Amino acid sequence: MGGFKKFRRATLARSIRVLGIETSCDETAAAVVRRDGDGRGVIVSNVVRSQWDEHRAFGGVVPEIAARAHAACIDVIVEQALSNAELGLTSIDAIAATAGPGLIGGLLVGLTTAKALAHAGGLPLVAVNHLAAHALTAGLTDGVRPPYLMLLVSGGHTQVVLVKDVGIYLRLGTTIDDALGEAFDKTAKLLGLGFPGGPAVERRARAGDPARFALPRPLKGRDDANFSFAGLKTAVRRQVQLSAPLSDQDIADVCASFEAAVCESVADRLVRADRLARDAMGRDQAMPLVAAGGVAANQRLRRTLEVTADRLGARLYVPPPALCTDNGAMIAWAGAEQFIRGQRDTLDVAARARWPLDETAAPVLGGGKQGAKA
Ligand code: KG4
Ligand code: ZN
Repeated sequence: MGGFKKFRRATLARSIRVLGIETSCDETAAAVVRRDGDGRGVIVSNVVRSQWDEHRAFGGVVPEIAARAHAACIDVIVEQALSNAELGLTSIDAIAATAGPGLIGGLLVGLTTAKALAHAGGLPLVAVNHLAAHALTAGLTDGVRPPYLMLLVSGGHTQVVLVKDVGIYLRLGTTIDDALGEAFDKTAKLLGLGFPGGPAVERRARAGDPARFALPRPLKGRDDANFSFAGLKTAVRRQVQLSAPLSDQDIADVCASFEAAVCESVADRLVRADRLARDAMGRDQAMPLVAAGGVAANQRLRRTLEVTADRLGARLYVPPPALCTDNGAMIAWAGAEQFIRGQRDTLDVAARARWPLDETAAPVLGGGKQGAKA
């Protein structure tokens, strides 16, 4: 694909409108974003259809069900994004779609739709890396420009990345097993709290005592900036077995103690990543800290990030929850940023289930549902 290699300095000063399509996991989403000549972004429309109802009975995302659900509604979602924007295809400058990483069936639905629209409308196609889109969202919401440190915490990914520029990403740390969202979802499942687990765990944790159960703080004190959550999940399981049957208060205390362990581990890993980022940039100056991904909606984690950013002397940016979770606006925005730097993809561009943001980083195999977390 090599899209990133084609990047050069931004050459367009005029305003452009990009249609973005996202189908990599369990949200079917489309949006129109305008990027003005001065670099500012405006969300013109943003339509997201979540598949939670289809997957709930299975306690997690079922790839085949996800692909079918995307196929069943992608045309309506795209039409709605255009009609909410009061625009026809002729007013669009480029079509962007997630080409990876993610579940291949869903990716094929979104990317093929984008190709068909690009072909029919005679419009340029821009293939977008889903992780790059999360990484660039703060540019759309807060006008943050690289370089900055980005913590991505979602259901499929957990990594900390130095965003040097659009298309130039240095992975500083990644999970060596489960993604953080996955750990929330598995903890919720263990406690019978339903799917998706993150919001359910957070709701229960509000009434809980974070100091009640002594859970491990994974990888705390290690020199690298990697993450690990499988051991924590096992410790939660053991605690639940020891304390069974659990009262409502016990459940709340487990949730709060789990969140406390997660937050302490993430804060420690971020301090390491900040050191690695300063070394990589060759300067001892704090860079902005940007959070992305569904778990960034968690309020306790947000407070932890505020404290950590303060400690590092960094400014913190956390996009609103609706733009932290998967959406079409982030794909449209990343597409716009890449388009103005010259990226154009041909109709034979392939969907990629695995597509690391930093192609030079060594792969780290995760044990979770979505395979390699690198
Ligand atoms: O970014 P996202 O919408 O989809 C992926 O690309 O994975 O993230 C979904 C993940 C799920 O694991 C969900 O449980 C978690 O984000 N999540 C949360 C919260 N809201 C969503 N985790 C903790 N607290 C929340 N409030
Ligand atoms: Zn995502």
